[in-house]
Amino acid sequence: MNVLLIGSGGREHALAWKISKSPLLKNFYAIPGNPGISKFAECIENISVENNSEVVKFAQEKNIDLVVVGPEAPLVNGLVDDLEKANIKSFGCNKKAAQLEGSKIFAKNLMKKYEIPTAAFEVFDNPDDAKKYITSQNFPIVIKADGLAAGKGVIIAENLEDALNAVDEMKNFGDAGNKIVVEEFMNGEEASVLAFTDGKIILPMIPAQDHKRVFDNDEGLNTGGMGAYAPAPVVNSEVMKKVEEKILRPIISALNSEGIIYRGCLYAGLMITNGEPKVVEFNARFGDPETQVVLPLLESDLLEIMLACAEGNLSEKKILWSNDSAVCVVLASGGYPKSYKKNFEIIGIDEAEKFGAEVFHAGTKKSDEKILTAGGRVLGVTVTEKNIPAAIEKVYKCVEKIHFDEMHFRKDIATKALKFTSEEK
Ligand code: AMP
Ligand code: GLY
Repeated sequence: MNVLLIGSGGREHALAWKISKSPLLKNFYAIPGNPGISKFAECIENISVENNSEVVKFAQEKNIDLVVVGPEAPLVNGLVDDLEKANIKSFGCNKKAAQLEGSKIFAKNLMKKYEIPTAAFEVFDNPDDAKKYITSQNFPIVIKADGLAAGKGVIIAENLEDALNAVDEMKNFGDAGNKIVVEEFMNGEEASVLAFTDGKIILPMIPAQDHKRVFDNDEGLNTGGMGAYAPAPVVNSEVMKKVEEKILRPIISALNSEGIIYRGCLYAGLMITNGEPKVVEFNARFGDPETQVVLPLLESDLLEIMLACAEGNLSEKKILWSNDSAVCVVLASGGYPKSYKKNFEIIGIDEAEKFGAEVFHAGTKKSDEKILTAGGRVLGVTVTEKNIPAAIEKVYKCVEKIHFDEMHFRKDIATKALKFTSEEK
């Protein structure tokens, strides 16, 4: 099979790494890719992922059998729809289905209509009505912008004053902030369940947990994710059964009832409160960094599964998972998620890999023979071991081998799993 991968982050490097193991793979391209992905695929940097017609043209020229779309923006931008018009198969959902991530209001209304558990909410199209409503509510309360705001359009307000300010801040998120969602605050532990779906059936992957805040003990600003581990014991088999029965299957059939076929990876961001899962958000794609711990545990052929999703015959597939555990520590630029410097040389990637890590490139570039920092999240260092404690110990030994100026990482990745060690895995 000839495969084209869209994207340039750690998630896409992990996808490329796993796809490259498939015996089905023949020619492999990435737009735009990154220095890590270039080990497996020819990276095409002069085509923009925002330019659907250029991407379609490239796929036609190279006789691509499957386009794998990593990030949300091209999905929301209708890339899969345009590929379909040209009879090119994709792993990724179409524009209508991508609203599940692209519009919080679409997702929340759908969950309400089909009774899928999520936080209670109200939608406002002007700040004054939102403020009036908030005045009579309990705190903390959650204020969200409607559209894609690069993960930043969510404010958890502890009191009335902060909540009123948060409503004013929504206008900073451009069009995404034109409508405001005010949501009940959910207490509990978060987890991410990613799932493969062909639009008819949905097969969950191993549950994972992200670490969204920039500093240890979940302090500081929200980021794209500072590390992850899988499996996440907070999603034990009982919770997973509820996730499947109350959330994953109902959302796919809700979409079907609305005339929308969702194919690809569906990401359910969950809050687990006393064993009961509720949806925090849906994403229309693989999570990042979750993908960097979930795919190392996948024993089946990823490309075969992705093709089955695209062709609508996932029911014929059996997906096998390893019993091991994986931990990923993200190495970020100092200052991230605010402003940070770039172009520092990265050393020690090879040493970390020799020691047993997979080092996924998230924000790097190649200059001469050197690898330089080029983004906020720079690398994801993943280790797979028999259990979480062993993976934690080894991953931090691998991290020690890597250096770049102003490098920052969390030192408590996966420690939330340790309180479950005596319980069911
Ligand atoms: P989102 O972009 O919707 O995933 O929100 C970002 C983060 O805000 C989530 O990962 C949660 O940590 C937090 N959050 C969002 N909505 C809620 C809620 N209703 N209750 C508690 N925390 C929330
Ligand atoms: N790790 C969070 C996300 O991918 O949205």
